[in-house]
Order: sequence, then structure tokens, then C-alpha cells
Amino acid sequence: MIKIAPSILSADFANLYEEIKKVERAGADLLHIDVMDGHFVPNLTIGPPVISCLKNRTSLPFDVHLMIENPERYVDDYIQAGAHILTVHMEASAHIHRLLGYIKSRGIIPGIALNPGTPLTNLEYVLDQAGMVLIMSVNPGFGGQSFIPCMKDKIRALKSMMDSRGLEIPIEVDGGISEKNAGEIIEAGANILVAGSAIYSAPEPSKVIKNMKETNPF
Ligand code: DX5
Ligand code: ZN
Repeated sequence: MIKIAPSILSADFANLYEEIKKVERAGADLLHIDVMDGHFVPNLTIGPPVISCLKNRTSLPFDVHLMIENPERYVDDYIQAGAHILTVHMEASAHIHRLLGYIKSRGIIPGIALNPGTPLTNLEYVLDQAGMVLIMSVNPGFGGQSFIPCMKDKIRALKSMMDSRGLEIPIEVDGGISEKNAGEIIEAGANILVAGSAIYSAPEPSKVIKNMKETNPF
């Protein structure tokens, strides 16, 4: 089943609670929360206190995407704040294998994210530690960017890498996804689509979510 994870990066932060309820009512499956530290990416967003306040205020599981340096120093804070899936970047930690194992040991789904320029070969010895792989289809830091077309080849190659190893790990794709390109991204092998601007800028987010799911070729 294809899941849609609206990114609150494109929400109106002055009305965050209502903005979350809006996508919950619209049929979202997960809530994608982009955490940026102004170092790993050139932008700053929200941290554990805001996420904590939202805990128990929605039925949507929190899909927390950490775009921060030294994620090992902060993962406990995000687990405590309510993360269900906690994704760390391959590029941000020298000890990614240990970090994924630690997140898993805390009963949280460990996600591993790859920037567009990071090769899939870096996953070779950590793939079996991951509960989800996040393929960035834009360079992280900002919403509203364009999907990088060759990321479809990367998704396809990841899917076949998993198939050849008999692994069934969800593939999440993040950045520049709209109703127009959702079908090709799903066709390439994605299971979870993150969308910020396409959902939050729409007059009827439920239609966008429905259309994205209906482009499912399977
Ligand atoms: C980018 C973030 C994305 C972003 C997606 O750094 O990780 O989650 O919010 O936004 P859109 O869908 O507008 O590209
Ligand atoms: Zn994200």
C-alpha cells in the first residue's frame, strides 16, 4: 500500500495544530516532520519541544526527518518527543551502523536518508539495520524545489538491490513530489511519498492525496 506523508514544512506555523488536523482529515498516513539545524542544511526549523506539544494531538504517526549534524547527540530527545519513525542522514554520522541499531533498540523505526549525491553503495553494509530508506529527490533544506529526474533511476536501483537481498524495506521519497510525477515515482519502487508544497498549497488537500494514491500502478 502506498502511504502519503505530508510535510509540515509547508504548513502555516502560526496554525500548526489546525494544519495537522487538515491533512489528517484529508487522508494522510504519516506526518512528515522536517528538523533542520542550520548546519547540515542551510535552514532552521523546529525541535523536540514543538514535536512534544503535538504528541497525542493527532492519530498520525510522526515521521521525523533529522537534517542535523551529530544526530547521535539528539536521537533520544526526538524519541522522547514522540517520533515513530526516526530518520538520520548517512552523510551526518560517522557511526551510522551503530546509530541505526540504537534507534531500533529503543523500539523506533530507524530510517536512513541519502542526499541526491550520495551513492547507493554506501548502503551496502547498513541496509539490514534500516527500517526504512529515504531517498532525497531534492537537495535538503527547503520545500518547493523541483524533483531531480535521475532520482527515479536511484529508486529503481535501490529496489533491485533490496530484491536481490530478499529485503522488504519501505522506500520513502522526499522532495518535489506532486500529483503529476507521483505515478512514475511509485512505479520506480517508492512506497511512501512525502509532499509539502503540493499538499499544503492545494485548495483541497484530500484530492491531492487521493490522486497521488490513485496513480498507484499496482
Ligand atoms: C526538504 C524536506 C522535504 C520538503 C518537501 O529538505 O526534507 O520534506 O519539505 O517539500 P516539497 O514537497 O515542497 O518539495
Ligand atoms: Zn523531509
